[in-house]
Amino acid sequence: LAQLNTLAQKAGKLYFGTATDNPELSNTAYVAQLGNTSDFHQITAANSMKWDATEPSRGTFTFSGGDAIVAQAQAHKQLIRGHNCSRHIAVPLLDITKGRLSWDVINEPFNDDGTFRDSVFFTTTGTAYISTALRAARAADPAAKLYINDFNIEGTGAKSTAMANLVKQLKAENVPIDGIGVQTHLIVGQVPSTFQQNLQNFANLGVEVAITELDIRMTLPATTALLTQQMKDYQTVIAACKAVSGCVGVTLWDWTDKFSWVPGTFAGQGAACPWDENFVKKPAYQGIVNGW
Ligand code: XIL
Repeated sequence: LAQLNTLAQKAGKLYFGTATDNPELSNTAYVAQLGNTSDFHQITAANSMKWDATEPSRGTFTFSGGDAIVAQAQAHKQLIRGHNCSRHIAVPLLDITKGRLSWDVINEPFNDDGTFRDSVFFTTTGTAYISTALRAARAADPAAKLYINDFNIEGTGAKSTAMANLVKQLKAENVPIDGIGVQTHLIVGQVPSTFQQNLQNFANLGVEVAITELDIRMTLPATTALLTQQMKDYQTVIAACKAVSGCVGVTLWDWTDKFSWVPGTFAGQGAACPWDENFVKKPAYQGIVNGW
């Protein structure tokens, strides 16, 4: 049986992987599939490496959640994607995971119109936080691949142009930047027609591209027609990454509908993952296989 990471590597990619989260690690059947390295050779912590998780109150640091995800990955020799940095957490987490990872050093810097998001970092430093964080991350682990990650940069448009311009500028200023993370939280039937071209445009900047948070949601209830369209959409996304040599890998934003973030975030939507709530493969799984 063809499996997702096996096929991705056969296509020349570094990995196929999935996000996971700490509460899920108590589910034995879930953990068994998470450690199935024929499907998953890479893991992202959905929440436990974030600033609010690692410094829940000012000056009080806890890395146990992130450490548990790293241990889970190491037990199966899976790669780690650090998600995501702030100036507070970059150094300690990079220390424990040295040499085995990529990092989303900058997460979601842009508004949809391509202007910079009013984060606490931007309002206090302007864009200076971006180069500061990237340089600090490089100093902490010279071997880690350093990424800027965002959503709604799947197709060409103002936000993708802004991302490209930022990366060009960072490279011109010799700021370390290795990759662009394209989150790829999509809606069934709405894969942008410019998706592959846009991945190629990013790769042409001389950086890696990764699909970092793939899921394709639908308005519930899931029907046969929607699940069939979802299969085609997964296939389209994977085929685009396959066709762009600079696209190094794909990560699902969790593999099962049981633990997807979608229903809790987008009212009335769900069924976004390749496995259903009972860990049974959906047509979407076959779509990924077809795409590779
Ligand atoms: C989401 C998690 O999946 C949820 O559990 C959490 O409540 C909110 O964050 N883009 C990102 C991720 O970069 O960090 C987000 O993860 C999904 C959107």
